[in-house]
This record gives sequence, C-alpha cells and structure tokens, in this order.
Amino acid sequence: MPQAHGPPAPRLSGVSAYLDHAATTPVQPEVVAVMAEELSRIGNPSSLHTAGRAARRVVEESREQVAAALGARPGEVVLTGGGTEADNLAVKGLYWARAAADPRRRRVLVSAVEHHGVLDPAEWLAAEQGAEVVHLPVDRTGRLDVAAMREAIAADPASVALVSVMWANNEVGTAQPIEQVVSIAAEHGVPVHTDAVQAVGALPVDFDASGVAALSLTGHKFGGPIGAGALLVRRGTPLVPVLHGGGQEGGVRSGSVSAAGARALGVAAELAVAAQPAHAARLAELRERLRAAVLDAVPDAVVHGSPDPAQRLPGLLHVTVPGCEGDSLLYLLDARGVECSTGSACTAGVPQPSHVLRAMGLDDDTARGALRFSLGRTSTAADVEAVAAAIGPVVERARTAGLALLA
Ligand SMILES: Cc1ncc(COP(=O)(O)O)c(C=O)c1O
Repeated sequence: MPQAHGPPAPRLSGVSAYLDHAATTPVQPEVVAVMAEELSRIGNPSSLHTAGRAARRVVEESREQVAAALGARPGEVVLTGGGTEADNLAVKGLYWARAAADPRRRRVLVSAVEHHGVLDPAEWLAAEQGAEVVHLPVDRTGRLDVAAMREAIAADPASVALVSVMWANNEVGTAQPIEQVVSIAAEHGVPVHTDAVQAVGALPVDFDASGVAALSLTGHKFGGPIGAGALLVRRGTPLVPVLHGGGQEGGVRSGSVSAAGARALGVAAELAVAAQPAHAARLAELRERLRAAVLDAVPDAVVHGSPDPAQRLPGLLHVTVPGCEGDSLLYLLDARGVECSTGSACTAGVPQPSHVLRAMGLDDDTARGALRFSLGRTSTAADVEAVAAAIGPVVERARTAGLALLA
C-alpha cells in the first residue's frame, strides 16, 4: 500500500527558501509513490519470465506516457540515465552516423551558450576525432544570432554533421528560436539536436511539431528523480550508440532499463506537461515580484536574459551585482537560509566566469557577480520575501568584505 506523502521535507534543517529549482526540483509526491511501488518489485525488463515481462510492460507503458506528453511516438523515446547522457548520445551519436555516411561532415555547430553536456562532447570530438566545433554567437540577452547560424551553414553545407541549440538556457533562462534553427538546417538536410532539459514542464514542448531530429530531457527538472531521462530521436534518424552491451533500447543504449526510473519519468512528464500553462503563469508572477524585490534592495543589480516573457523560462531570474563575487553572495545567502546558485550547478566551484555570460558579451568582472534564482512547483511568496529580506544586507556585507580585502 503506497504511503501518503506530504510536501517534500527540506534535506537540511533551517532551510527557509529553496530557489535553485533549475539545478533540481523536488520529486512529485505521486512520483515518489509509484517509484517506491516499482522498486519493491522484482524483474529485469529484458527477462523472459513473468516478472521480467511485467517489468517490460511497465517500461513500455511509461515510454508511451513520455511520448504522449511530449508529442513523440513511443518508438522515438530512448530512455537514458539523465540529460548529460542524452546530450552525449545525441552529439556523438549523430556525429558518428553522419560522418560515417559522408566523411566530409566534420563540422559541429553549437550555440555558444550550450550546457557542458553538449559543449564537452563536441570539444571531445574535436580533440579526439577530427571534428571542428563552430560556436554560434548569441546577442546580449543570450538569444542565438540566427543570421550567423545561416552563414555558418551556408559557408559549406556539405561539411556540417549536426547543429545543437538548446531550447532554453539554464543560466539566464533565454529561450532559443528553435523553429528558425530547424528551418535553416532543413534547407541543407542537417539534423538539429536540442537540449530541452530546462524547457520541459516550463514551456510548451512538442517534439514532432518542433522538427528537431533529437531532443534531450531529464526527469529531475520537472518532478522526477535524478538519473532518469530520455533522448527523443526522430524515426529514421541514424544514431551510433555510445554504450555497447546488451542491446537494450533498440540497440541505441545498452544497459538494464530501470522500470522504477521509467515509471517515475512517465508520471512526472505527464503531470508536468498537464500543469505547464498554469505553472508557468504562476511562476512568471512570482518571478516578477522577485525581480522587483531584488532591484528594490539592490538598485544597481542588473537583470540578464531575454526581456521578453515569451522568450524565457518563466521562473528564472538572473542578476549580476556590481562589486561582488557571486560565490560570496551565494554563501552569505545560504547562511540566511536562502539557497540559490551562481549559474550552472555543474560548474559551481570552478572559479572561472560563466561561458554563457562571456558569450553574451559581459566582461569577466561583471560575470563574476552572477546570481541565479530559480523558482519551481513548491515556490511561494514566502520564498520571495526571504530573498527580499536577505539580499540587501548580504550585498552590503559582501561589498564591505571586498573593500576590506582591497585595503
Ligand atoms: C540545460 C541542461 N542540460 C543538461 C543538464 C544535465 O542534466 P543531468 O543533470 O540530468 O545530467 C542540465 C542540468 O543542469 C541542464 O540544465
């Protein structure tokens, strides 16, 4: 019998405001329940006996659920261990397949603001496999320069293996013109991959209508668990596997499939996509209050990302605070019970300014003062109030400490 689940308990005592939902957002109670139920069952979905067949049925029903939520066919869903794995499979798998068919295809076009899950496999292909990575520029708001992309392809269309442009950016929240990207690439028969990890559940995402060849998603950004994700791959798109072994997932992704992970991903996707319009409207309103509160307390803070609400993630607020280190602000806010980020959680701790902010034309000093607040399903007005109360004194403290260091 599944237990009743209340709101997720904070992991640490004393946490009053969690504003880092873009790093990971709480697992939906319904997802915890179905996952627990599935974990208590036995059976490898590849086994032929009754228990194995039951597990396989769960996986296939969950695949259908993911597909239905995102406008894909069940056969287009490749289950993975998350977003990074989906990105690696897309970038390497498309590259290898395209270069095998025509060795002239060596260029990998990526937006300069991609997550490292895309950038690093592309760089690895360049370092180890003779690929050439072209970083497509973005404007001050982080939005792709479509004309530059058109020029980059047109310069030598036969040499392009793939284009990868994310649906929405994880640091500043700017959404990309995927429709235009696909239409330009299609003129030259070039497949497009999009990392939609931040977009699913926050913006409308329809795989089939988008025209992309491959789309990455990960459960833990929309109410599923960490470690369960998928790559949607358009039917007929050649893809060389990264993982070899038992031949699961149509031979594209070997490894025992987790029935619990698949079920969790399916339920989380269905819930998140059904709630998306109301969720986005609620977060946009909270984000506006947060923006006003931060600027009220720190008038010289600068808000980054697209100023157009239709072109950004609804619940993300990115600011830079002049004269402060983002890391110092993060720790001082944390000490006051406000949990946020300086940008990408995956690069936190690395003391270089973000490649995203650099690509947007920010100088290194400005980029170092970055803070990302991201709202989610469990966010409330009280979280905004917690930031409003803490941010002024925290910035003052960081600035005084900075001056003391200079003296
Ligand atoms: C845009 C984007 N892509 C990929 C990832 C990686 O996903 P995962 O943590 O599931 O590997 C993240 C996570 O932060 C992300 O924000």
